[in-house]
Amino acid sequence: MSTQIEIDEDLIKYLQNLGYRKDKVVDDLERETKALGSVAQMQIAKEQGQFLEIIVKTSKAKSCLEIGRFTGLSTLYMARGLPSDGRIVTVDNSEEFLPLAQKYWDEDGLTSKIESIIGTGTDVMQSLIDRQHTFDLIFIDADKNNYPNYYELSLSLVPSNGIIIIDNMLWHGDVVDKKKTDSQTNTIRDLNLKINQDDRVEFSLLPLSDGLSFVRKK
Ligand SMILES: C[S@@+](CC[C@H](N)C(=O)[O-])C[C@H]1O[C@@H](n2cnc3c(N)ncnc32)[C@H](O)[C@@H]1O
Repeated sequence: MSTQIEIDEDLIKYLQNLGYRKDKVVDDLERETKALGSVAQMQIAKEQGQFLEIIVKTSKAKSCLEIGRFTGLSTLYMARGLPSDGRIVTVDNSEEFLPLAQKYWDEDGLTSKIESIIGTGTDVMQSLIDRQHTFDLIFIDADKNNYPNYYELSLSLVPSNGIIIIDNMLWHGDVVDKKKTDSQTNTIRDLNLKINQDDRVEFSLLPLSDGLSFVRKK
């Protein structure tokens, strides 16, 4: 019997209030991102951000890679989790929101830990592999159709015991809606199945916000 509870509107509000510790920098960044309009929906949930920070800390990661920066909330949380000599490389194919992200990274004293690269996720990852870079933890939160490529490239970029975290793996719940057959939904379904059957990794599919797949390379 499953003990998974259903998460209704009231429980979501509870999670957003009690599952998140108030933080002025984060709240200001969220407010400024919301003012951008509908693109704001791309931002990770603050509860997810807290989780990322804890995982970076408890795994003692010193090097992180992020694919999909947007206004930089996930970067900010992961950079907070890093030690003072830790580094996060964050990749996005658009420069548009970088100044906004940098404003809040500066305000939080994180700038020295963050390297921002503008480029296509797959190209940048391949170039990092070619130059024999490795990362303790990779967070994937960019274009969904490239998720299978990001997953495979990540497996080449993390050592044994390295962590890969992938956002949107429940895709607004569409993964279980048989009427949804668009390429993004199918790609996410296929990737969940692939990870489930992949002997190279251990994993946990977490229903946190839009779903986080938490993967450990064996
Ligand atoms: C969901 S948002 C990332 C949200 C971010 N993690 C946050 O916490 O606010 C996805 C980002 O991926 C970027 N993106 C889309 N396609 C990409 C690609 N092929 N390579 C690199 N970045 C890409 C978009 O420009 C967008 O900023």
